[in-house]
Amino acid sequence: MALLVQLRLLRPFLVLAISTFFLLLTAFELLTTLQLGKFTSWSAFQHAWFGRFWSYFGPMSKEVASPCVKPLLGEARGVVLDIGPGSGLWLDLFSATNNDKITKIYGVEPNPEHHPALRAAVRGAGLDAVYEILPVGVEDLENAGIPKGSIDTIATIQVLCSVPGPQQILKQLYPYLKPGGQWLVYEHVRTNQDHKLMSLWQGESSVRRVQAMLMFVQLLWIDSGQVSWTAAL
Ligand SMILES: C[S@@+](CC[C@H](N)C(=O)[O-])C[C@H]1O[C@@H](n2cnc3c(N)ncnc32)[C@H](O)[C@@H]1O
Repeated sequence: MALLVQLRLLRPFLVLAISTFFLLLTAFELLTTLQLGKFTSWSAFQHAWFGRFWSYFGPMSKEVASPCVKPLLGEARGVVLDIGPGSGLWLDLFSATNNDKITKIYGVEPNPEHHPALRAAVRGAGLDAVYEILPVGVEDLENAGIPKGSIDTIATIQVLCSVPGPQQILKQLYPYLKPGGQWLVYEHVRTNQDHKLMSLWQGESSVRRVQAMLMFVQLLWIDSGQVSWTAAL
């Protein structure tokens, strides 16, 4: 059992390998379809890359996360801020048949590569009347017209590992909740199990050491804050 748990230490390397594969695939696809504009800015390329990566990896990740996320999102009510919905893998949980307590949902998704799939998921879940996609990051919510103190439920499902400066984002988001509002969170955390190897792996200094060894990969990932994958075990 302990061995099984520790074998999970290899998971981040698998994720990095898949991600690197999608980096090459994205570059190839953009070149061969002459979408050269996406090479002119790092964020445009990164969006194209992550969009492709998540369309493959997201459903696998959903299988693992479902037992926790399904009951969690069942608690959503009132006006919902759905932060970083990606391609909308969880939207069926907001549909009227699964949850009749929701009045409005703002899907805060800055990556335009996800929007076609997200729009299809909105339609598929019958949410056209209540789900509005805001094509911004949480940093720009105020400019997008969301007043502070107006939200009943914030949902962040596997998002804080993707945002630069998660602590800052937490502070920015909190004031949007109404008094008595709730925040539904499913994120990577540090283990509370007593496995020496795991604790070492997730320890601050060892994380930095491994990151230094993986300098090349880290350079590719650091902009999206994905270095916190180390806490995913
Ligand atoms: C790992 S994906 C998770 C997607 C979805 N929540 C799921 O579980 O399938 C992280 C998502 O966070 C989004 N994201 C990254 N930075 C963001 C920001 N500043 N504000 C809002 N969403 C952000 C990404 O575009 C991506 O869709």
